[in-house]
Amino acid sequence: MCGIIGLTGDGGALDAILDGLRRLEYRGYDSAGVALADGGALWRERAAGGSHSVADLAAATAGAPPSRAGIGHTRWATHGSPTVANAHPHLDCSGRIALVHNGIIENHAALAASLAARGHVFTSETDTEVLVHLLEEELAGGAGLGDAMRATLRTVRGAFSVVALAASDPELIVAGRRSVPLLAAFGGGVGFVASDVSALLGRADRYYALEDDQVAEVRPGRLRVTDDEGREVVPTAVTVDPSWDVVAAQKGGFDDFMSKELHEQPRAVADTLLDRRGADGSIVLDELRLSPYDLRGVDKLVLVACGSSFHAGMVAKYAVERWARLPAEVEIASELRYREHVLHERTLVVGVSQSGETLDTLEALREARRAGARTVVVSNVVHSTMAREADGAVYTRAGPEVSVASTKCHLAQIVALQVLALALAQWRGTMGPAAIASVLDEMQRLPGAVADALSRKKEVDEVADALGDARDFFFIGRNLGYPVALEGALKLKEISYLRAEGYPAGELKHGPLALVEPGTVVVAVLDPLRDKMRSNVAEAAARGATVVSVAADGDRNAVGDHVLRVPTVADPVLAPVVEVVPLQLLAYSLARRLGNDVDRPRNLAKTVTVE
Ligand code: F6R
Repeated sequence: MCGIIGLTGDGGALDAILDGLRRLEYRGYDSAGVALADGGALWRERAAGGSHSVADLAAATAGAPPSRAGIGHTRWATHGSPTVANAHPHLDCSGRIALVHNGIIENHAALAASLAARGHVFTSETDTEVLVHLLEEELAGGAGLGDAMRATLRTVRGAFSVVALAASDPELIVAGRRSVPLLAAFGGGVGFVASDVSALLGRADRYYALEDDQVAEVRPGRLRVTDDEGREVVPTAVTVDPSWDVVAAQKGGFDDFMSKELHEQPRAVADTLLDRRGADGSIVLDELRLSPYDLRGVDKLVLVACGSSFHAGMVAKYAVERWARLPAEVEIASELRYREHVLHERTLVVGVSQSGETLDTLEALREARRAGARTVVVSNVVHSTMAREADGAVYTRAGPEVSVASTKCHLAQIVALQVLALALAQWRGTMGPAAIASVLDEMQRLPGAVADALSRKKEVDEVADALGDARDFFFIGRNLGYPVALEGALKLKEISYLRAEGYPAGELKHGPLALVEPGTVVVAVLDPLRDKMRSNVAEAAARGATVVSVAADGDRNAVGDHVLRVPTVADPVLAPVVEVVPLQLLAYSLARRLGNDVDRPRNLAKTVTVE
């Protein structure tokens, strides 16, 4: 997720762009840049300053020429590290076209190869840069910028919003999008485009949402929107809530960041899956930096992580063992460090960390490297310390997560780890191309299934109402349902401050059952061992527990006082991605009923850099 702003017709273009970028920083902040129309040329400046890139950019633009049009970008890196060279805007070979982009271009590698063969010179590692070279070819062929954008977007696959400016027509800003939101707007005679309304509050008073594959040509006071065939269409006007301030707008109409991020989960899963299948159908993990040759002697995989990331690692253990037939262990990072572990050059250690900075996980990875193991990190932050130090990385593409309780990053971690497990299966020859393709096809259905699970919030709210003032919760599951139960318990305790423990369902009778009495709530994840789970549920129900179960739509014999239904997922290894959603919603609902600040739970921090 990145932030985009473009404007035309404002004598103070640079100030307005910088102001917009500051407001968009919540979408990404590892680098930032601006391009301005400068007479018959373009002027560009970029900065890559960690979490203060926009401030650095503002300082670097002190000598900018006066300009009435420009485009700006604040980046959350997905392809290529957050360096100045990778920061947007990107320029074509002539330096006369500038482009900013949010999203992922799936077929960038093939496009880059053919563009390079036609003489284009690339200056970044991004997937974005192909777009500006494609525009360059279209303009050289005589197209205007609008037609050039339409032709370019026709050749690319992926999810994106894109904005371009060309020196040849300096009053024109051209934008296009697919699956990623983008607004056009006007305030007085000034025309704008932006990723979201927060960038434009106080400047614009008329807003239009671009639809998929539409192209907007914005000039001062004028908007022309065309569809993918070039036919002019009536732009979709949108009303902006007059009470919104910048923070409310950043929440996009949701009450808090947590619910916004919950609803961003289908996108986070879809983006994490983009770009992982090569032209021949095989798995491609660009930044893994390890080949089958490097991994040929690996005889064990160890996943290290904390909290929700640990639970994602637990889900991955099943995938690695089932698909790659490789022994897999999951370790709490803070425990691995001080154990007499047996790690060596034949161990692959995978650190799972949304932030890539959690000290326990970082030190566990360092420990593994000292022992000679190869290390890979699954992280949401491309420039994080873990990502820099590890031998390889697989990035989740969830965008920044503001709420302390991890939701969209957790789901993205699970699917990223599952893709890694498939890559291991491919290299080890434990799954053939057809079997891998079939799992990948099933994974493509996950964003829709997650969206479906989220759409059932009302049913979850009703269960939360029915639970009244319950204070004690057990979350139970077996096999792949066990990490889902652990994650459900963690979410609930984190934001509601209710006592919630996760257990393997078979363990209940070995001790914790002593605590179960009328008033205790047992949340049971029924799949994948639903028959076995039925007896564990009966044990709890017999002691007076109120049972809430999570069951697939297809489960006709689901047990429980309340049943939270989820869409059926054909492959049980993938089902946790969907099953965790009602438990996130339940935690959210109960916490809100208690009046808690769900975004900032007491005693917790988003990034834990202490032992
Ligand atoms: C729970 C949560 C934490 C983190 C844990 C690890 O909602 O967010 O349990 O999962 O602190 O953080 P990362 O993934 O950044 O290493």
